[in-house]
Amino acid sequence: MDIECDVLIVGTGIAGLYSALNLRDDLNIALISKGDITKTNTYLAQGGIATAKDEHDKPSFIEDTLRAGNYKNDLTAVRVLVDESIENIKKLIELGVDFDKSKDNLLYTREGAHSTNRIVHHKDYTGKEVADSLIEKVLKRKNIKIYKNFYLCDLITQNNRCLGGIFIKESKQLNIFSKFTILATGGIGGLFKNSTNQRILTGDGLSIAVKNNIKLKDIQYIQFHPTAFYESTNERRFLISESVRGEGAHLLNSKGERFVDELLPRDEVSSKIYSEMKKTNSSNVYLSLSHLNSSYIKQRFPKIYSECLKRGIDITKDSIPVAPAQHYFMGGIEVDLYSKTSMENLFAAGEVSCSGVHGENRLASNSLLEGLVFSRRAADYINNLSDKTPLKKVSPKIITDFEMVKRENLKIAIDLIKEKRWDLKDELISY
Ligand code: SIN
Repeated sequence: MDIECDVLIVGTGIAGLYSALNLRDDLNIALISKGDITKTNTYLAQGGIATAKDEHDKPSFIEDTLRAGNYKNDLTAVRVLVDESIENIKKLIELGVDFDKSKDNLLYTREGAHSTNRIVHHKDYTGKEVADSLIEKVLKRKNIKIYKNFYLCDLITQNNRCLGGIFIKESKQLNIFSKFTILATGGIGGLFKNSTNQRILTGDGLSIAVKNNIKLKDIQYIQFHPTAFYESTNERRFLISESVRGEGAHLLNSKGERFVDELLPRDEVSSKIYSEMKKTNSSNVYLSLSHLNSSYIKQRFPKIYSECLKRGIDITKDSIPVAPAQHYFMGGIEVDLYSKTSMENLFAAGEVSCSGVHGENRLASNSLLEGLVFSRRAADYINNLSDKTPLKKVSPKIITDFEMVKRENLKIAIDLIKEKRWDLKDELISY
């Protein structure tokens, strides 16, 4: 079966949804999700979205982002991220997102490596609030058609130009032809045994890029979040948001002693935790909120409170067992400031992309912001070009063994990570 559209967007996290809403409403958009539309890392985001609070806050937000990234960031991309933060948060509010407020003023929380409180949030499930609001708007737009449970096998290309994508649904091949394609396929957590990510996020964008010689960048930069709930499970690891430490929680070793400044950048806190675990021969450390007011904890962190209670921990009294887990991928498909890749008419936005904005280590709560700023830039770029760009069709390859393609894609992504980070080989799933 063939489908034709102006813009094909693969992925329904913040970058996919927000680019769809920022595209002109006279463009036909096909919005694809690999599983259900809410099976995204955006949906899981707890802490919030970092933003400059005003013009005066911009230089220190830029500096915090660079310092966390160990100054390996692309400075121009960081400036764009910070400069466009306020307008995109306003736009989210216009789209119906209900950030926590006191009277009419936004409440800002703090997370590691931020020199001030600048993170807007909705309790401890900001991602769900943002995704639900955007999905509601997307469903009302007549020009956006959603296709669920579509697996992206490959791109349709000709002479380094992207003409669309080849998908599998229920063992059938579907070819979607488009003038422009935006890859917003998310991260790589599903390739790791221990990750806070949705398990279905297995680096599909990376495999597609490798198969089509699309330029990649900073593949070695993989972030481990310091505080995932420690439990032995093959499932996704439940995250204990950094905002818990931002609001005053303490990290304790097995003797109940503090051993690290909880608000250092993520890579430094994770590394201190690993050393402490090694020193004390423990599988985890602990996070304690018991010195904070218990009704405040329940009202501010209702999701974390209830999820920990399900696991037998009352966070108002008990320390939470935590250990680092894979959380975010700073590298990805190389993009410019308009999210353009090295392939013509192909864009990438969100975690699958790499503009260099995060450097070696992403600053807390900059991921949803990146998804907003750079997916909107892609949409604006496409809005201006669409009328001048014809739809082109070729005969795509015919895929006979779907399971083999899935296995091949998984192998390509795993081998790439192993090649760049041999030290992580035992952390990866096998194929
Ligand atoms: C968290 O709430 O700790 C996660 C936020 C992020 O990944 O920046």
